[in-house]
Amino acid sequence: MTIERRPGASGIGRDGSPDQAPSVLVEDPERSHRAAGCGTGTDIFDNRLIFGDNLPVLKALVPDLAGRVKCVFIDPPYNTGSAFAHYDDGVEHAVWLDQMRQRIEIIRVLMAEDAALWVTLDDNEAHYFKVMCDEVFGRKNFVSDITWQKVYSVKGSARHISGMHDHILLYAKNIDVLTIGRIPRTARNNKLYRNPDNDPRGLWRPGPLAARNPYSLGTYPITCPSGRVIEGPPNGSYWRYSKERLRELDAKGMIWWGKDGNNVPAPKIYLETVAEGTRPTSIWKHDEVGNNQDAKREILDLFGEDMFDTPKPERLLERILHLSTAPGDLVLDAFAGSGTTGAVAHKMGRRWIMVERGEQCHSHIIPRLKKVIDGEDKGGVTEATGWRGGGGYRYFRLAAPPPASNAPIGEPARST
Ligand SMILES: C[S@@+](CC[C@H](N)C(=O)[O-])C[C@H]1O[C@@H](n2cnc3c(N)ncnc32)[C@H](O)[C@@H]1O
Repeated sequence: MTIERRPGASGIGRDGSPDQAPSVLVEDPERSHRAAGCGTGTDIFDNRLIFGDNLPVLKALVPDLAGRVKCVFIDPPYNTGSAFAHYDDGVEHAVWLDQMRQRIEIIRVLMAEDAALWVTLDDNEAHYFKVMCDEVFGRKNFVSDITWQKVYSVKGSARHISGMHDHILLYAKNIDVLTIGRIPRTARNNKLYRNPDNDPRGLWRPGPLAARNPYSLGTYPITCPSGRVIEGPPNGSYWRYSKERLRELDAKGMIWWGKDGNNVPAPKIYLETVAEGTRPTSIWKHDEVGNNQDAKREILDLFGEDMFDTPKPERLLERILHLSTAPGDLVLDAFAGSGTTGAVAHKMGRRWIMVERGEQCHSHIIPRLKKVIDGEDKGGVTEATGWRGGGGYRYFRLAAPPPASNAPIGEPARST
């Protein structure tokens, strides 16, 4: 199958002028893959793996997919100056930024109104990228710069500061309609809830009665059941309930005074009434979402000796997709690397498109996805998502070479 660009339907250059080279994607069914059997009825087969430079590829996707992608995750070359085994990661700063801008402008067009863009970078380019991205998306659509702890041990050989984190920049296409999910409650969160007084409402934990918000009725003395008198709230704070409301809650058994009736009264917070999950914060620790070592271990388990230098851990992608997509939503990764985004999206029942210009598209992504689809990948988030196999993808490549003016981000690795 060929996806042809309709005349006049793209032309997303920096100045909005029409571009010259039409991009055509051609399917190669030999390289496409689907699970044996008919699947479960919920299987997704129309995922796309596209081999080629992402600039013409993204342009070719516009006629079909403008405004339809729910979540974009990209992990582009960080421009560190390193020569990795599968790609070189060092171009002149202004060139890198300009190439990223061209791609981000098209990515924005592909995003649905309520979509999110997540971008991982490090200190080499993150701040410059943010300024550029603010221009493309508008500053009001910047959501957060999340700190992901990618490393957990100190590097003694670091010249000044031992770097431990990456930036994950999050943008909304339109912040007014963006929804970000919650992080599911863990057994550890729930352990805080007990029921020492056999409250028929179930498990609860003590909450604070004092708050910082000024409240004119919240300054009274309290006499505990033990007889102890608490003169008032701590300095600079106020009781959050009036005297009458506190008495009412106490009469219903919803205030905890400690087992001897001598504590500062604590309103009970019931597990049943708290939200399904917690609001995500801007710090993501390695033990919650994985680190670089976890990611390399996942690749090692999949490919044995055949390493990939810069993969992301599956748990990191699981969190991102959980927060910004629902089953069936379309996810795009235009810098696919070893294919982590597609593998995780597949296991989570999301539809996906991945683009990769290096040979890792064939040496890593295809074998990885075949294992996922055939139910042979037991690692990463397979157990957490309950994944057993199924679905498929279609493989496409660019029919025409990219025009010379669209030099790729990150030079291809030189053969030695
Ligand atoms: C940091 S890696 C991505 C790793 C990936 N997140 C993973 O978990 O494996 C960046 C990838 O982007 C690819 N890349 C760089 N420039 C590209 C371009 N212009 N078009 C398509 N892919 C590109 C590189 O070949 C490399 O595989």
